[in-house]
Amino acid sequence: MTVLVVSNQKGGVGKTTTAISLGAAIVERGQRVLIVDLDPQANATSGLGISKERANGIYGVLLRERPLAEAIVPTALAGLDLVPSGPEMAGAEVELVPVMAREYRLRQALRGTAHYDTVIIDCPPSLGLLTINALAAGDGVVVPVQCEYYALEGLAQLLATIEAVRERLNERLEVLAIVLTMEDRRNRLSMQVIDEVRKHFPKLVTRARIPRTVRLAEAPSHGKPISLYDPHSRAARAYADLARELLSRLKAREPIALSGAIA
Ligand SMILES: Nc1ncnc2c1ncn2[C@@H]1O[C@H](COP(=O)(O)OP(=O)(O)OP(=O)(O)O)[C@@H](O)[C@H]1O
Ligand SMILES: [Mg+2]
Repeated sequence: MTVLVVSNQKGGVGKTTTAISLGAAIVERGQRVLIVDLDPQANATSGLGISKERANGIYGVLLRERPLAEAIVPTALAGLDLVPSGPEMAGAEVELVPVMAREYRLRQALRGTAHYDTVIIDCPPSLGLLTINALAAGDGVVVPVQCEYYALEGLAQLLATIEAVRERLNERLEVLAIVLTMEDRRNRLSMQVIDEVRKHFPKLVTRARIPRTVRLAEAPSHGKPISLYDPHSRAARAYADLARELLSRLKAREPIALSGAIA
């Protein structure tokens, strides 16, 4: 089981859209995928057509020691399941502070989920304890970066946080990819930002880029991932390409992880 963490403390860069769309694209490639909505905003939950108001989601798992298996709900796409978030998560960041082994709550909870090939964690736009829980449980971080001015702002802090978690809490953790989102090919600024991010992170930036398209903005209101809502759209193809690229990166990485485990 591979745990992917979709994180960037900058708001509105396409984390939730990427978590849902990538998850669905990985399912289309034959895997079983679990999305964990760790964000109190619960956008991944509503975007997958699940009511935010239902109880027994990620809050109970993190703060009431409820089994993760009991929090899982199916989505409109067979093979794609969800651990929903909801309003009680509003206080989770603070309630976690005095908890024993607070950084490892999610990692411990995920131990019992053997039926999934990939788990994708959708993080809130912050670097607090919820995001730390995701990083402590993760194998690879996927960082969506919006093709806008200030795109690189905050990235250094995010990468430093990831490095600190790797040193102190989770040596398996790696930055797997930077994904450029909301690309507008007619916009010069958008293209300049792409060049700039690529120059800074030549190895991390994926070949697949996500176009800015209204279809992606519409899909959540139908409670469906883009691969169901508009399977032949450019956006659906872009996320399918991204899934293929990330899975092959993970495959290429495996021998390193194995030799690390033996040493
Ligand atoms: N490629 C895209 N084209 C057009 N709209 C997009 C695209 N990606 C995301 N959006 C829209 O932009 C908004 C922000 O996207 P999203 O919710 O995925 O970002 P986020 O990083 O998860 O935000 P937050 O930090 O609040 O969690 C949403 O309304 C979403 O529908
Ligand atoms: Mg989000």
